[in-house]
Amino acid sequence: MFGRNSNGTATFAGVPIDEILRQAGCGTPAYLYDLDGIRATARSLNTSFGDAAHLVAYASKANSSAVVLRALFGEGCGADVVSGGELALVLQAGLSADRVVFSGVAKLDDEIDRALSAGPSGIYAVQAESLEELVRIADRARTLGRPARVSLRVNPGVAIDTHAHVATGHDAAKFGIARGDVADAYALVDDHPELRLVGLSSHIGSTQAATAPYIEAALVLFDMIKTREAARGPLEFVDAGGGFGIDYGGGCPVAPADFARALVAAQNEAGLQHLRLVVEPGRSLVGPFGALVAAVVQPKVSRSSGRRWLMIDAGMNDLIRPALYQARHRIEALSDGARATARFRVVGPICESSDDFGEYELPSDPPPTFVIIRDAGAYGFTMASHYNGRPLPAEVFLSGGRVESVAPRGDVNAWIANRLGSGA
Ligand code: LLP
Repeated sequence: MFGRNSNGTATFAGVPIDEILRQAGCGTPAYLYDLDGIRATARSLNTSFGDAAHLVAYASKANSSAVVLRALFGEGCGADVVSGGELALVLQAGLSADRVVFSGVAKLDDEIDRALSAGPSGIYAVQAESLEELVRIADRARTLGRPARVSLRVNPGVAIDTHAHVATGHDAAKFGIARGDVADAYALVDDHPELRLVGLSSHIGSTQAATAPYIEAALVLFDMIKTREAARGPLEFVDAGGGFGIDYGGGCPVAPADFARALVAAQNEAGLQHLRLVVEPGRSLVGPFGALVAAVVQPKVSRSSGRRWLMIDAGMNDLIRPALYQARHRIEALSDGARATARFRVVGPICESSDDFGEYELPSDPPPTFVIIRDAGAYGFTMASHYNGRPLPAEVFLSGGRVESVAPRGDVNAWIANRLGSGA
């Protein structure tokens, strides 16, 4: 994580950041990741389940670097994937198929085929998000001659206090099967011998800063499971989803382990200890353990209005969260001890007004040469694009107080070749 040593030098994973940049030799913008922090958080989450059978299915959309995936798989995590590409990636990164769940509202036939064909008996569960999809999964299973392990992703109708773009559990969301349609989904499963219903799941949204709505949603699932089990015998698991919040600077009173402990307690109270508990955290396992370092291109000061901008070499194509969700990430100068500070709007080079990371108090005399955008380990690189003809940023992985590996910045010539139609 980001820190400062006693003389004010900015550090990441305990290593001075200028030293990291020197060792990595990759230039900027560059994402830095603290693998030890990622591993420690996954370990503490896994431990917090105590003796309860569980699977931490890491939502690989948050950060899909194989280095990060392997660090998490090494701690016993599985994966929640949302495309055939992510499925192929986690399998090739070494995860066994029976530790993968597949979410997503519009899975393609080809993606369903991959899920059913993986490993000796397919993935752990294809999480159906509609009745129509259940029928399509059954069709694919029949065609392939392989039974499909499915769960129903239920929309529990629980709204959470978060940005509208990341709230998924309310009744108008496109995600999941409405509570009122679950009986019909059970009937469909029973009509299709290719389908093997193994669990129920839900995911009510991201950046949850309290455990109560998460548990409220789990209780909705528990009730539905009891009804189903009374009629048709036991299921294998309940998946309460992810969405655990992190501290972006305004505080976050709960840790991933708090969600797990609350879930185990609710499960015990419901008398459903035979079910394996599945959770799907993404952000909380990686977000605090990544940061984006950018070089300052120049300040810009309006002589007439006094307005100040700090123009950096990272833009919304590298980190889109501020532009897309009005997210605020802490931004700090690498160097400390300037003679004066001022309020700057920190902006990138992209030709969009929303390419703006917000207003920050930063050194003005002299202005910083580098800044660090904190808590960018989740939904940073994975949402990066080539917009404005920009290569993808570099990635630097730290472990044990040193740079373990570097993925260099993308090659702009590859982008040019693609646009010219002369190659990928
Ligand atoms: N499970 C499902 C089915 C999901 O859709 C998601 C995230 C997760 C788990 C993991 O949620 P997490 O633990 O990471 O909050 N790009 C946005 C976040 C989009 C989340 C999409 N679904 C952002 O940068 O805030």
